[in-house]
Amino acid sequence: MNLHNLFPTPVGFAELGREFTPEELFFIRELETRPNQGNTTSVNNFVLRDAALTSLRSFLEDSVGDYFKATVNPKHNVSLRITQSWCNYSEPGQFHHKHAHPNSYISGVFYVQTNPEDRIYFYRDGWQQIKFPPETWNAYNSESWWFEAYLGRLILFPSSLTHMVPEVKGEKTRISLSFNTFPVGVVGEEMDLTGLRLEA
Ligand SMILES: [Fe+2]
Repeated sequence: MNLHNLFPTPVGFAELGREFTPEELFFIRELETRPNQGNTTSVNNFVLRDAALTSLRSFLEDSVGDYFKATVNPKHNVSLRITQSWCNYSEPGQFHHKHAHPNSYISGVFYVQTNPEDRIYFYRDGWQQIKFPPETWNAYNSESWWFEAYLGRLILFPSSLTHMVPEVKGEKTRISLSFNTFPVGVVGEEMDLTGLRLEA
């Protein structure tokens, strides 16, 4: 049987490809935190605006641009701007509740400190009314799918895609940097009555 993956959900992956600098690690590890559901998050929720993360911001912006070009491939002059950005801290035994990112187009999660078994789970929309326990799991019969969360890895995904982090099993505090994006520029087509220009 030949199958075609009609209208797939793009999840993008990129890697920093270098070590974190002591300045970057110091900045991220020392941020003041507040409680979240299951873990803690930085009080600062525009962390990528700080000069300490200029180089990381460039890598993340370039990756978002690559993802946008490879998936949306817009005809007009429009790009995705990083809006809010924050850090998540999950100590051993903690987790990150299931959620999505409203008021954002593409979101990203970037791993700054991880344990060998760390993962992120994504979930399919809707409720499976008819459920057949499968012999093996695949992209068609699964309600969730996980990817490895390792040091320096960036994962980009549609902001409406729900995701969660299970209980951290290793010895280290799992630290990730998350961010949202929104389009700036020419979004629609005025002739099609979908025109929308979003200024920076
Ligand atoms: Fe998230």
